[in-house]
Amino acid sequence: MSDSKLSFVSEALDSYCIRQSNPHSKTLAELESFTRANVPASMMLTGPLEGALLAFLCRLVGAKRVLEFGTYTGYSALTLAEALPADGEVVTLDIDPENTSVAKKYWAQSAHGGKIRLLLGAASETVSQLKGPFDLVFIDADKPGYIGYLDAALEMLSPKGLVVADNCLFQGEVLQSKPSSGNGAAIARFNQRVLSDSSLDRVLLPVRDGVYLIRRR
Ligand SMILES: C[S@@+](CC[C@H](N)C(=O)[O-])C[C@H]1O[C@@H](n2cnc3c(N)ncnc32)[C@H](O)[C@@H]1O
Repeated sequence: MSDSKLSFVSEALDSYCIRQSNPHSKTLAELESFTRANVPASMMLTGPLEGALLAFLCRLVGAKRVLEFGTYTGYSALTLAEALPADGEVVTLDIDPENTSVAKKYWAQSAHGGKIRLLLGAASETVSQLKGPFDLVFIDADKPGYIGYLDAALEMLSPKGLVVADNCLFQGEVLQSKPSSGNGAAIARFNQRVLSDSSLDRVLLPVRDGVYLIRRR
């Protein structure tokens, strides 16, 4: 697995896919470079390929309101904001004031930054302050929280809305009968929850570290 980008394909194929997809904006490129050079755990940043997929999905469902669990330095939130109409909104939840201060700095440089609202605190608490509907929900925060975030997302999802959950292959740990990390085990439980719910329409894509697309049937 290519380490820096958490991808199951080679660096060369990953780069080819990026080149064949919509390019990211100048602000996103700068945000990515700054994060990779200066911020710990930069492999958490979704990056240009998954970002292009998120933006594509946003436009496909005609999203106006988006909810995100897990902001980090704000790459995916800005990607999503760029794909929304001028009166669209991204509400993004994170617990970390330090990394999200980087996010705020880059959002302020973008014409789309005004569409983003950050709520700081444990997402299990901040999400209860929100009212739907949301047209797209991106789940990318702490892995043990995923099942609760999915339940909250489904309650607030618009009728044609889409949930996108990241890291659902968890570097391949989902193949282990007993995943070696707690986060891997949490993702395995999340995937089982999705699979066992017949009310859900779903497809798990091997894009980057695994992207689960979920919606109501
Ligand atoms: C994988 S990163 C998000 C990456 C981001 N979506 C991007 O593309 O750059 C996960 C984030 O979840 C946040 N997080 C962890 N536990 C959390 C919690 N209980 N509530 C809210 N955010 C949490 C972390 O602070 C971290 O910034």
